[in-house]
Amino acid sequence: MLLLLLLPLLFKGILCPGPSPEAGHVLGSHQLAGEPLSFHMIQIFSFANHSWVNTQGSGWLGEVQTHRWDSVLGTIVYQLPWSRGNFSKEELENINGLLQLYFNGFPQEVQAYSSQFQLEYPFVIQISSGCTMHPGKAPEAFLNGAYQGSDFLSLQGYSWKPSPGAGSRAQNVCKLLNRYRVIKEIAKNLLGDTCPRLLACIAAAGKSELERQVKPEAWVSKGTSPGPGRLLLVCHVSGFHPKPVWVRWMRGEQVQPGTQQGEVLPNADRTWYLRVTLDVAAREATGLTCRVKHSSLGGHDLVIHWDGYPVLLILICLAIMVTLVMLIVVGPWFQKQSSNWNVCSPQAPSLAFPTGPNIQEPRSLGNQLCLAQKSWMKNRFLKKVKISLSKL
Ligand SMILES: *[C@@H]1O[C@H](CO)[C@@H](O)[C@H](O)[C@H]1NC(C)=O
Ligand SMILES: *[C@@H]1O[C@H](CO)[C@@H](O)[C@H](O)[C@H]1NC(C)=O
Repeated sequence: MLLLLLLPLLFKGILCPGPSPEAGHVLGSHQLAGEPLSFHMIQIFSFANHSWVNTQGSGWLGEVQTHRWDSVLGTIVYQLPWSRGNFSKEELENINGLLQLYFNGFPQEVQAYSSQFQLEYPFVIQISSGCTMHPGKAPEAFLNGAYQGSDFLSLQGYSWKPSPGAGSRAQNVCKLLNRYRVIKEIAKNLLGDTCPRLLACIAAAGKSELERQVKPEAWVSKGTSPGPGRLLLVCHVSGFHPKPVWVRWMRGEQVQPGTQQGEVLPNADRTWYLRVTLDVAAREATGLTCRVKHSSLGGHDLVIHWDGYPVLLILICLAIMVTLVMLIVVGPWFQKQSSNWNVCSPQAPSLAFPTGPNIQEPRSLGNQLCLAQKSWMKNRFLKKVKISLSKL
């Protein structure tokens, strides 16, 4: 059981070919503004009964999923072209073999120990293990285990510690694990040394993906009213990469304290989506804006005005007024002018088509057509304006 628990760490030992003295340099050169970078593997084991378990596994470089475990075929699925790093076919086959052993063996061990540790079906075990590189610091290793969705144990200073509040069951499991010194040694090597090298290796390959900058789109909408006289303002921000983003409802430069942020959710195209809401009194909604800060925007925040609608209305009204005035005042003048110098038909002064007496006939015909067209347009427009005004 003990070795099997560490197998996901073991596979890292053979991943990155050869020592990589420049690992730190490679990482440092493309880390996002001092963000720590990590590689971690997530394993989820759902035990339905003594004979049935569902297994899920995935590998992540920061927030980018790089690998998935196909538990039916028993193989690694490489999610991105560079997920293989630059490892040989043989090395990848070895890793796959180890993972097969782990994903088959670990649940069997758990089933065998289930009565000793009073594990009650159905239950779920989640394990997250990997390493983190902080710029300018020694790499940090981690392994966290959860039972039934709550923290259960972790590896700290290369010994197993029960999580606070995990109870005597976690203490007993840790006691058992801590009896094996060799496991601690393996963990020390793999997590403290090999994993950071692996991280550098994959991070170098996935550099462009990690640095991919995609600008967010933002729009606002009205959510389900939280109560009479109140509005739920919803700001949607979508299609951005990388994941870190700052979205707030603001009045001028003032962040509105009631801003509620949802979870950043993945889109299918490896970009992200976020929904940020604000519950306000309907009459206080005017003047609010949704402000978005993201690395892809280069300091030019995206600002969406909530009261875009009234402003638009005012503009439409203004446009209608101006057009009406034009039609009434300028219209007759334009009509008069156009009979002399018609832009509508092809007899505007032109050198290419010298006019002669013969062209008189078609010109007046053209004029009539043109006038008819204009009055038709004017009528149509006036009708439209009337409809719009009655709607207002
Ligand atoms: C175990 O659980 C699975 C999935 O829920 C079910 O299909 C199966 O019949 C169960 N087997 C036993 C022996 O209870
Ligand atoms: C694999 O990639 C790393 C980092 O980019 C590089 O240092 C190393 O030489 C490569 N190894 C092979 C075998 O190509």
